[in-house]
Amino acid sequence: MKICSDNIKVFDQNTLEYDQWFEKHSTIYQSEILVIQQAIPKNKTGIEIGVGTGRFAKPLNIKFGVEPSENMARLAEQRGINVYRAYGENLPIENETFDFALMVTTVCFLSDFPKAFPEVHRILKPQGEIILAIIDKNSELGRKYETGKSSNKFYKDAHFHSTEEITELLKQSGFEKFEYLQTLTKLNKNEIEKSIKGYGQGSFVVIKAVK
Ligand SMILES: C[S@@+](CC[C@H](N)C(=O)[O-])C[C@H]1O[C@@H](n2cnc3c(N)ncnc32)[C@H](O)[C@@H]1O
Repeated sequence: MKICSDNIKVFDQNTLEYDQWFEKHSTIYQSEILVIQQAIPKNKTGIEIGVGTGRFAKPLNIKFGVEPSENMARLAEQRGINVYRAYGENLPIENETFDFALMVTTVCFLSDFPKAFPEVHRILKPQGEIILAIIDKNSELGRKYETGKSSNKFYKDAHFHSTEEITELLKQSGFEKFEYLQTLTKLNKNEIEKSIKGYGQGSFVVIKAVK
């Protein structure tokens, strides 16, 4: 399998800087937690793929994660998450294990899309849910990140996608019953936002679909 190791190296070498971003941008962080919280099923067992330092898994009470960067994984473990050292494209997990799988701003780092979504499909129980949180390529923040990519160490190798592109790939992997939520419609307001249904207004979009 071809994996782009630069996508992991930057997180492995700058783990604390990545993690501290959430302290410095707490209103954005809180808005993002709120919208994901609304999408994830209650009292079900889930896993976050590309769990990073556990900044979302921890407050969302997700006990399992997958993370290829050792330093990111260790910090997530300190936050109480059980972390598999692995890639989203090749999960060391039995078929039909989890009720839901979450990916937060990780899709843009995957090396092999055609492989990753079927892998998630495989580890979900029947009627299990995939929940993806992305920076929409066609949003204000998506355009800003895309333009400033070369000078952003974390996002320089990222490939941003539109909500429609991700939806199409998920359909090809066997997912159905799509729902969308969005937040970060007002980037300069410095206030925690309530999420709204649909996509097209917010920079941070949550796509939910069923196996
Ligand atoms: C932008 S960070 C997001 C981390 C966490 N979800 C969050 O929102 O804080 C992207 C994460 O994806 C991980 N990653 C990169 N390539 C991956 C792959 N092929 N499979 C799974 N995770 C990957 C990186 O190591 C990094 O921790």
